[in-house]
Amino acid sequence: MKVVIVSILVLLVLVSYAKATTQNVETFLPCLRFRTNPEHPIYTPDNPTFVSTYLSYTKNKRCSNPNNTNLLAIVAATHESHVQATLVCAKINGIQIRIRSGGHDYEGLSYISSVPFVILDMNNLRSITVDVPNKKAWVEAGATLGELYTKISEASKTLAFPGGTCPTLGAGGHIAGGGYGNLIRKYGISVDHVVDAKLVDVNGNILDRSSMGEDLFWAIRGGGGASFGVILSWKINLVEVPEILTVFKVNKTLEQGATDVLYNWQLVSSKLPPELFLRAMPQITKGAKSGEKTIAVKFYAQFLGSAETLMEIINKKLPGLGLKHEDCHEMSWINTTLFWGNFPIGTPASVLLDRPTGPPGAFSKGKSDYVKKTIPKEGMEKLWKTMLKFNNLWMQWNPYGGVMDEIPSDATAFPHRKGNLFKIQYFALWTDANATSLNLGLMKELYEVAEPYVSSNPREAFLNYRDNDVGSNPSGETSVEEAKIYGTKYFLGNLERLMDVKAKYDPENFFRYEQSIPPVLAM
Ligand SMILES: Cc1cc2nc3c(=O)[nH]c(=O)nc-3n(C[C@H](O)[C@H](O)[C@H](O)COP(=O)(O)OP(=O)(O)OC[C@H]3O[C@@H](n4cnc5c(N)ncnc54)[C@H](O)[C@@H]3O)c2cc1C
Ligand SMILES: *[C@@H]1O[C@H](CO)[C@@H](O)[C@H](O)[C@H]1NC(C)=O
Ligand SMILES: *[C@@H]1O[C@H](CO)[C@@H](O)[C@H](O)[C@H]1NC(C)=O
Ligand SMILES: *[C@@H]1O[C@H](CO)[C@@H](O)[C@H](O)[C@H]1NC(C)=O
Ligand SMILES: *[C@@H]1O[C@H](CO)[C@@H](O)[C@H](O)[C@H]1NC(C)=O
Repeated sequence: MKVVIVSILVLLVLVSYAKATTQNVETFLPCLRFRTNPEHPIYTPDNPTFVSTYLSYTKNKRCSNPNNTNLLAIVAATHESHVQATLVCAKINGIQIRIRSGGHDYEGLSYISSVPFVILDMNNLRSITVDVPNKKAWVEAGATLGELYTKISEASKTLAFPGGTCPTLGAGGHIAGGGYGNLIRKYGISVDHVVDAKLVDVNGNILDRSSMGEDLFWAIRGGGGASFGVILSWKINLVEVPEILTVFKVNKTLEQGATDVLYNWQLVSSKLPPELFLRAMPQITKGAKSGEKTIAVKFYAQFLGSAETLMEIINKKLPGLGLKHEDCHEMSWINTTLFWGNFPIGTPASVLLDRPTGPPGAFSKGKSDYVKKTIPKEGMEKLWKTMLKFNNLWMQWNPYGGVMDEIPSDATAFPHRKGNLFKIQYFALWTDANATSLNLGLMKELYEVAEPYVSSNPREAFLNYRDNDVGSNPSGETSVEEAKIYGTKYFLGNLERLMDVKAKYDPENFFRYEQSIPPVLAM
């Protein structure tokens, strides 16, 4: 009963907060200008570069909407005081904010809203300092992973950071959502290596780990940043890697026996030495005859060791792969980040610093699943049959095991740890706007076909592969009941503590969005 009353009270507060009036909007900008210096970059719709500023960090054409009349302004902070001022003025005026670092959110939740809103764009706050003797670094939220990896490798040939494989991801969103990559089996994920953080809270105060306290520091490591405050920077722990690593990419089509090899992969991939990460990517590809489609499974490996040792392991554990010595490439850690970014071998590392600023090229939809028991071959065949209905779809089967089995599920807010064989990511891509409803429908169908083979009660989902289908609220309101639906899938048993932290640090639910954590005090 008490829970219900608290929930209703919370809801009332949220709804009253949601109403931004024209009056509010007219006072928001003067408030901001008064509190910051005049050169502070604020883009409003009458600014000639408003649309290009908006588009440069919208990575999904399906969500990107430069004509959204609800977007009142983009505040591209160049100093932390701009972040503070934006929060204070937005709060006073009842205006929602969307926090954007790299703009890779799969559902565009960092740059769209159906109520009047302001984008707080962090991309200018991108400095990185590496401290080699202490094996630590500070990275600002607007830095990209490519910039972080480059700085680390410039400072040391044997230090690295466990994070994602796409160089343009923003440190702000990526790390707050967990941060998953090819060092996971040896070192875990990004949040396992965050040792401090700077955040602006709902009152505009800048906090670090000691002033925010362990509860909030726990929540932002996997709970997503945007429910709790604005992450300014992370202090991270760097991990050791050998000077030379080995990678390979080998593919097998269905006709070449991909199903058998992938079945065997399921049996061994989470039990291999933690130094070896072997991802499998079933994807649509051209068939033998023109106009035909088939599925190829690409196997991507990263090994913290030599090609020779890698060959020995694979030939023993997964001989069906038919790995040849010439498939293996020995290289530095920074060069492996290029390999995983799909750049051809020989591409100069400077591409890691690129920030493509054009409008997004393609429409996409992602989903995720966790697999706890081997998918039988008949299940795999069913998946292939549905996959072949798409024009362009790939999956990533990302092996678990290694240190992921040892880190408790409540060590950070990111809960998906022991007991998983692998995690699936589904990703559909299309370039014709007319194909959107077809692809979204097919994605739902594929997700249904997969259901018997994946986690259940709840069917777990990975926050960084954001998917509104697992539950979502309207932009301006937070239904606690709905939030518990998506929250349980993303956070499992950690949801309750996350809601409690939220209630303590943002009781009025200023930091709310379609999949935010609702403020509900634990009883
Ligand atoms: C091509 C591609 C490849 C990917 N590869 C991987 C991968 O290898 N591993 C992996 O784990 N994930 C991967 N992802 C998912 C990615 O990690 C998430 O989309 C992540 O949220 C992106 O962070 P961002 O800052 O770029 O995105 P944004 O869209 O800017 O932000 C994402 C979310 O975080 C919030 N947020 C952003 N910045 C802040 C901040 N400073 N303070 C508080 N909240 C903030 C936003 O409001 C939003 O809710 C990939 C995504 C894409 C599109
Ligand atoms: C936005 O509006 C402009 C001008 O009306 C139009 O040319 C453009 O196609 C629109 N873009 C989208 C994505 O709707
Ligand atoms: C397999 O990989 C090679 C090299 O990466 C590529 O040229 C080829 O097109 C791939 N085949 C399929 C069926 O995907
Ligand atoms: C890394 O890649 C660059 C660019 O192709 C190449 O010149 C260099 O030799 C590589 N170094 C290592 C150690 O892999
Ligand atoms: C998409 O649909 C519109 C309206 O039905 C049509 O005019 C247009 O030609 C279609 N585009 C493509 C690429 O099929």
